[in-house]
Amino acid sequence: MAVIDRLLAPDSAFQQRFFFVAKRFVAGESGRAAMDAIAALNAAGFSATLDFLGEDVTERSAALATRDEYIRLLEAIQKRGVACNVSLKLTAMGLLVDEGFAVENASAVCAAAHANADPFVRIDMEGSAVVDATLRVYEHLRAAGNENVGIVLQAYLKRTAGDIESAIASQTRVRLCKGAYNEPPAVALKEMPDIRRAYLRYAEALLARGTYPGIATHDERLIAAVRQFAAERGIAKDHFEFQMLYGIRPEMQRALVAAGYRVRIYVPYGTHWAGYFYRRIMERKENAFFVLGSLLKR
Ligand code: FDA
Repeated sequence: MAVIDRLLAPDSAFQQRFFFVAKRFVAGESGRAAMDAIAALNAAGFSATLDFLGEDVTERSAALATRDEYIRLLEAIQKRGVACNVSLKLTAMGLLVDEGFAVENASAVCAAAHANADPFVRIDMEGSAVVDATLRVYEHLRAAGNENVGIVLQAYLKRTAGDIESAIASQTRVRLCKGAYNEPPAVALKEMPDIRRAYLRYAEALLARGTYPGIATHDERLIAAVRQFAAERGIAKDHFEFQMLYGIRPEMQRALVAAGYRVRIYVPYGTHWAGYFYRRIMERKENAFFVLGSLLKR
């Protein structure tokens, strides 16, 4: 994997030259390309959430540029009339520079989103080192009157049982995912059967007692278990949504729409795609071979 590690290091020269390898998972390098992808998804019955790629910025100017891109993006969503909201990463909004600065930038995005048909802003969850700070920023945003904001909780983290209960109590909209970062065993479950069991437990709690949860997974078994739980409990199909990533298991995405479920596709775009792409590659070793194959074919 060392070759893959080197190829995918977040280096902009690589990112500029090799976008073709990321195309399967990234809708485009520009907002316009992303908007075209969303329109096509809407036509096929999906809603979407847009992510302007980037993370771990340490320069104020980069965080401000990301904030401004989100504000432009929200205007473009409104103008084009697409069914779409936004997802953002706080480390792209300056969380590593200063927490108050990230609050200001995220507040500006929430304020801009208010004008849109779907005003919701999802704060993605990143590595365990920033989970507490991310939840604090979320609480700040809610306390300042932003009702249109929600969080992501990761089933692999050992702390998540408590976070799920707090989110239910505060009527927070949660996207539940397994978790994508390489966390140490002190803080995270490492075995897939344990992560699956935790995921299902949290999904059931959110479905039964939570506020419009996003069930974010491509895991067939979990999706089947969630469908069964919802059907047995009489939980309506408009009480929650499934969420999946752009380019992953499109046939399953279509099957859920055909079965009458709400499905939102997470659509990343932008030139800083290496970090996101790296996590998608590391989730599945076949993807690493796919990348090498595409490079060799050029
Ligand atoms: P799992 O990895 O077991 O995959 C199930 C099946 O799906 C695989 O067998 C394969 O067929 C397919 N699949 C999954 N990943 C694939 C890939 N990369 N390439 C090809 N096929 C693949 N994480 C996080 O830490 N913070 C966050 O904010 C988010 N946000 C988020 C939003 C949405 C909408 C989704 C769907 C996921 C996230 N994630 C995330 C990522 C999540 O934590 C997790 O890493 C991935 O979804 C993979 O886990 P699955 O539950 O899909 O199962």
